[in-house]
Amino acid sequence: MPYPSLFEPLRLGSITLPNRIIMAPLTRMRAGDGNAPTALNAEYYAQRATAGLIIAEGTAVSQQGQGYPNAPGIYTQAQVDGWKAVTDAVHSKGGRIFLQIAHNGRNSHSSFMPDGTAPVAPSAIPPTLPGFTSDGRQVPIETPRPLRLEEIAPIVASFVLASRKAIQAGFDGVELQASNSHLIDQFLEDGSNTRSDTYGGSIVNRMRFLLEITEGVTAAIGSERLGVRLSPFGQYGGICDSNPMRLFLSIVEELNKRTLAYLHLIEGRGSEIGLGDALHEDALNNAKIFRPHFEGPLISAAAYTSSSASDTVRAETADAIAFGRLFISNPDLVKRIAADRPLSPYDRSTFYGGQEKGYTDYPPSGSRYDPR
Ligand SMILES: Cc1cc2nc3c(=O)[nH]c(=O)nc-3n(C[C@H](O)[C@H](O)[C@H](O)COP(=O)(O)O)c2cc1C
Repeated sequence: MPYPSLFEPLRLGSITLPNRIIMAPLTRMRAGDGNAPTALNAEYYAQRATAGLIIAEGTAVSQQGQGYPNAPGIYTQAQVDGWKAVTDAVHSKGGRIFLQIAHNGRNSHSSFMPDGTAPVAPSAIPPTLPGFTSDGRQVPIETPRPLRLEEIAPIVASFVLASRKAIQAGFDGVELQASNSHLIDQFLEDGSNTRSDTYGGSIVNRMRFLLEITEGVTAAIGSERLGVRLSPFGQYGGICDSNPMRLFLSIVEELNKRTLAYLHLIEGRGSEIGLGDALHEDALNNAKIFRPHFEGPLISAAAYTSSSASDTVRAETADAIAFGRLFISNPDLVKRIAADRPLSPYDRSTFYGGQEKGYTDYPPSGSRYDPR
């Protein structure tokens, strides 16, 4: 076997993965009515059940947390039922699946908000992203509304409730979306958080939102079923911090005290959401930097190839590797890497929205996919 160490089992909290090739969370904007997963979504995830672990796409914890048309949620019974069909399909094929729970914060648009007002954020600082309305039109980005202090605890509670619902829906655990400029990340970094209350200012204050959610979810479902995703030094959506090294070291050291199922780090500037094809040459190696500060399982993501993934696991820089775009176009990625077979290229034009095309129609093995 060319890459043996990727094929060694790995214990992640309460589950054991048969291999260390993980499907990264991937927003595909193909949920059905009421942001509920459909039979098509179940088929897509079941096709990828040989992944050591599937981390299902960023899923809103509330209507206020939504930000993309046809992205799923986990706050209504229909959504829980839709996800139950997904987890049943994955488990019946022998797979394991976590749900990434998320709140878009300032990256959303007023058309998603229950009361039609501006999207919420720690502070009134807009992202550098195009805005999307709930019916998919691109519009100028809005300036977010800073959350009032008394609005923060209900958002923490919405993450906790979402974690309970995820377990009801059959997930093996949840991953907190604390990366890529989502609401938790907006609280962490001082480029988006200029609050003067107990949720802003010092690093301890800016970590409070993340750590309250972590405690709440731990009390609800257990830390062994909780992973956290971070994107240190990420720049997506204009996210930035005046001292990212000190900030992220503090976060990782705090998370290290909490016996999580895993810590998931995204590598490299520019490629953090899969837009770049390679890591920037000057990018810091997050797994290398933070590995000594986290004793639990560490997952590393972004721009990995089968050989760089194998090298990273062999060097014990990370315990497992998450693949994003390659899992879109190679449902049987694990088998292909094991057999050293060619990987199918992905078709970027079908990443977001639509139906089967570019979603469930990538051939499971052998021939190269022709996106024409
Ligand atoms: C279509 C698409 C959707 C994505 N959606 C999410 C998401 O929902 N949550 C998240 O944390 N990252 C998301 N990402 C980032 C990926 O999880 C991953 O970190 C990124 O694609 C880099 O890995 P890769 O080079 O293996 O593709 C997305 C990336 C792509 C390309």
